[in-house]
Amino acid sequence: MSRSIVILTGAGISAESGIATFRDSDGLWENHRPEDVATPEAFEADPDLVHRFYNARRRQLLDGVVAPNAGHIALARLENEFDGEVLLVTQNIDDLHERAGSTRVLHMHGELLSSRCSVCEAVSELRGDVDGTTRCPVCGAEGGMRPHVVWFGEIPLYMQEIFTALERCDVFAAIGTSGNVYPAAGFVAVAREAGAHTVELNLEPSWVNTDFEETRLGPAGTSVPQWVDELLKS
Ligand code: APR
Repeated sequence: MSRSIVILTGAGISAESGIATFRDSDGLWENHRPEDVATPEAFEADPDLVHRFYNARRRQLLDGVVAPNAGHIALARLENEFDGEVLLVTQNIDDLHERAGSTRVLHMHGELLSSRCSVCEAVSELRGDVDGTTRCPVCGAEGGMRPHVVWFGEIPLYMQEIFTALERCDVFAAIGTSGNVYPAAGFVAVAREAGAHTVELNLEPSWVNTDFEETRLGPAGTSVPQWVDELLKS
């Protein structure tokens, strides 16, 4: 049995929970061009629009309808039952892995339920709406809070920890990610170079599909539980 598994997840794992992916149909993210809501320049130009956009995403996440699906639940089961280490690296800003029960989760693109103070840099959990008048719970400054989300052009979080894990894993899986955005799209090459077995689980082959040794096509809510069952039996 493998001793260490690193799993990268993207928007596709949350699709069956009702959260829109980024690039599937018209290139728009919930009716906005990503560059209008997900760049530091967009926030500087129109902070109210960006706050409204993330407030809407946050309300959707907490609306009582969005819930972890069978894919999230299977990954939590894997962490619980696997005789070795399981690390989840997610590009998603939702909290569905945690709600399903996963505890070792690195949110490399930040978290929707947290905001960061641009005055003192503290990150605080804020589950309600945030706007230009919101005070930092740590330093009390008003108007400096921004979504704790890694925007285009910003450096993803936890990179050192992630690369260390990739270099020593036995299995690397990527689930529901298009392979469009680096550095995440390059993780498979690092893991493979280090000798890991690499597997992609996605609705369709991703942009970096040829870098994987194994591909499992289908909706994550079906393919992930099957894959986890096989791993736990092997
Ligand atoms: N099951 C499995 N895969 C699915 C499903 C599903 N039910 N539905 C969609 N997919 C696949 C799509 O085929 C696509 O390859 O999930 C992928 C989603 O791709 P993207 O929308 O590009 O999302 P992601 O790869 O997570 O984006 C990476 O880009 O915009 C930035 O920071 C943002 O974290 C995001 C990053």
